[in-house]
Amino acid sequence: MGPGTLAKILEQVPQMPSDRLLVGPETSDDAGVYLLDQERALIQTIDFFTPIVDDPYLFGQIAAANALSDVYAMGGMPLTAMNVVCFPSRKLDLGILREILRGGADKVLEAGAVVVGGHTVEDPEPKYGLAVTGIVHPDKLMTNARAQPGEVLILTKPLGSGIISTAIKAGMAGPEAVQTATAAMAALNRAAAEVALKLGVRSCTDVTGFGLLGHAAEMALASGAGLRFWLEAIPVYPQALELAAMGLVPGGAYANRSFLADRVSFAGDVNEAEQDLLFDPQTSGGLLFTVPAGREEECLNRLRERGVLAAVVGEVVAEPAGRIEVVRVRRS
Ligand code: CO
Ligand code: CO
Ligand code: CO
Repeated sequence: MGPGTLAKILEQVPQMPSDRLLVGPETSDDAGVYLLDQERALIQTIDFFTPIVDDPYLFGQIAAANALSDVYAMGGMPLTAMNVVCFPSRKLDLGILREILRGGADKVLEAGAVVVGGHTVEDPEPKYGLAVTGIVHPDKLMTNARAQPGEVLILTKPLGSGIISTAIKAGMAGPEAVQTATAAMAALNRAAAEVALKLGVRSCTDVTGFGLLGHAAEMALASGAGLRFWLEAIPVYPQALELAAMGLVPGGAYANRSFLADRVSFAGDVNEAEQDLLFDPQTSGGLLFTVPAGREEECLNRLRERGVLAAVVGEVVAEPAGRIEVVRVRRS
């Protein structure tokens, strides 16, 4: 569902203030965080969606990596997970469901968490994901509300997975694009989060359905700062820009664009396809976090050592607060 539609509905639902709620729905963060005691806070999140690739095992892996990511984005460690399954058991081979669940289980194992159960609903369209519970020390919590002027923005996976998924469905994506994007979508954000934690990062989100600019706008608003992106510095999957220029852009990108229209400004030389890419809803996207400008090289090196190909993609600025600016190249 688009961010605008959802916000309107949630306005009409009672809010539940609690002294123990460290992160609630107000800041549109990745997960809810509930304080248990001085040392521990509980992180809870859920994510599930329809298949984006034909291979059911790979789909299971991607859906699970995506669901686990919201715990990593808060600086936490996943503990337990529950399968959320919609499946047409009378129409489709149950072997497909087994492969989806096997893919999910393998990712949960890789994350060091355990699947403790789940729930299945008969549905004409298959859907899969996980509700994940994690834990974090309250002092180490990363939220989207702490970006500070003088910091730079680090992005840990390329953009364009929504565009490539759309092209896969249309039979237009080349083998290199498919291979690169699906491998990255199936990769956990665990190593990236561990590096961020070691560096003492406090401001982070993952990039998923609202696109890079949607999640960045939430960070800007929650932090009371502005974010400036350098287009040429942003990593992109092979072929994604070309596919976007051909119009293979998912509907969600247009919903994100119209929702953000008055909060994002582009330099005159940023073309339509490049803009589409920045609004493209990502499946199991990377982390977007901030580090002080002086520590960017150290951060990139540490990420590289862990096999994460990240990039410095922009900076946090004081003004205009709550807004996003996209320029072609870095000036400072
Ligand atoms: Co998220
Ligand atoms: Co999520
Ligand atoms: Co967060």
